Amino acid sequence: MTTTDSQPVEVHLTPEDVAASLASDVRVGLTSDPKWLPAKWLYDQRGCELFEAITELPEYYPTRAERALLAAHAPEIAAVAPATTLIELGSGTSEKTRLLIAALQAQGSLRRFVAFDVAEPTLRAAVADLSEAHEELVVEGIVGDFERHLDRLSPGPGRMVAFLGGTIGNFDEPNRLRFFSTMAAALEPGEWLLLGTDLVKDPARLVAAYDDAEGVTAAFETNVLAVLNHELGADFDLERFGYVARWDPDLERIEMGVRSLGAQSVRILALDMKLELLDGEEISTEVSAKFRRVGVSRELAAHGFEMVGWWTDPDGDFAVSCARRSEAGGRLSDQL
Ligand code: SAH
Ligand code: TRP
Repeated sequence: MTTTDSQPVEVHLTPEDVAASLASDVRVGLTSDPKWLPAKWLYDQRGCELFEAITELPEYYPTRAERALLAAHAPEIAAVAPATTLIELGSGTSEKTRLLIAALQAQGSLRRFVAFDVAEPTLRAAVADLSEAHEELVVEGIVGDFERHLDRLSPGPGRMVAFLGGTIGNFDEPNRLRFFSTMAAALEPGEWLLLGTDLVKDPARLVAAYDDAEGVTAAFETNVLAVLNHELGADFDLERFGYVARWDPDLERIEMGVRSLGAQSVRILALDMKLELLDGEEISTEVSAKFRRVGVSRELAAHGFEMVGWWTDPDGDFAVSCARRSEAGGRLSDQL
């Protein structure tokens, strides 16, 4: 039997490090105007379970669309990008990624799979499952923050970095462009970036996907307040917060947040902080940007990547693109 502890998992986030970055993120975010909290703190154990439940909701089409797309096109992706190492960022359960792993194996190139996620228990479980299912592969895990630890990826050549699930959309634009430049610096010419992006569509469908009838997404986003209660000794009363998801047509993104029901004050013991919230005041928890092919291809090109493949699901809701790190420098992000 495989135990989760026997798997090779590198931990770049120690409990002390996590505590220090949570404290500093919360201090910065909650003293800003408007107030915000970084999305990575959504993924404690309960957050990961709620996220899994989101992926099965009737309104939340992206997971099904990306799975259908990979089921149909993974062999073509493998043909365009015959990687020897597949590194998945924000890997979660790596459930859909199995389709890609199978295609890369069938085609004969893949030797190693590396899962990278901030959520340690979920990552360990996925690594254990995958190494059991693929004895012929080297399966590794990295517990890290993809906004801080991309310089710690195992060395190339022949790597493909997969960033699926539309997680790239959870960055705001400056952070997304920073991610592309860090990725361009981390990869060698000829290596690949595989990107899953949700596409711009009817706002009613988009809003429903992020504000489901059962309230699972609301529970997921509100859970960040429970994380602050546990980790920082805060006294948020979750009953006194509503959930908001709206479409911003100019930035083409869904904006999610929690809203104070009534004026209230909240104490955050570990930060020695007292937070005053007005009635209706919002704390932004996350954005989910939606994309168009031209925009993705332009941003990739500006950061030294050439788009070599673009696939969508049959309904055209979601896209996966494959980009190749170009030979010539090409980090033009400073010129944007
Ligand atoms: N790729 C999966 C999961 C997407 S949910 C899918 O497509 O279904 C986003 C995942 O990214 C979660 O597993 C979360 O724990 C992880 N994550 C969020 N912020 C992160 C960060 N800053 N660094 C590393 N992982 C992060
Ligand atoms: N990255 C995915 C998306 O934006 C998954 C996700 C992250 C999500 N946070 C979410 C889905 C909050 C629903 C609600 O769609």
